[in-house]
Amino acid sequence: MLTRRLLILSAALVLPGFAMHGPARATADTAPAIEVWKSPTCDCCQKWADYLTDNGFTVAAKNTSYAMMDRIKRQAGIGKSLESCHTGLIGGYAIEGHVPAEDIKRLLKERPDAAGLAVPKMPIGSPGMEQPDGTTEPYDVLLVKKDGSTEIFASH
Ligand code: CU
Ligand code: CU
Repeated sequence: MLTRRLLILSAALVLPGFAMHGPARATADTAPAIEVWKSPTCDCCQKWADYLTDNGFTVAAKNTSYAMMDRIKRQAGIGKSLESCHTGLIGGYAIEGHVPAEDIKRLLKERPDAAGLAVPKMPIGSPGMEQPDGTTEPYDVLLVKKDGSTEIFASH
């Protein structure tokens, strides 16, 4: 009887501990820091990095070689067919290409089991790819699963 009572008591004591994990996980919302791997000569990469800064991200831009970027993309689970010009790394996810800030924020909030997000190539009018004459083309943001398969995460 006594042990049963103790078990119930200890279960009750564990509960506040669980509750404390809630607020701690929300830090990604307040100060998202992203590493952006890019080529030093890439103009649209810098524009995307600046766009993220304007949208509340803390950006650490890292210039590197194309060979090194290949390695970073493969390691992060981004296949050849999904490649764009730069690769962001944030919260355990890869952000490949000109992905809008709102989609990155949603990814960090929902935290799906995935390698990350990708906008392959460089769609005209995507963040960092704005045209002087305002031209845009429709594009999809893909959720890249850990097995390399993709599904549409958002359409713009
Ligand atoms: Cu680009
Ligand atoms: Cu780029």
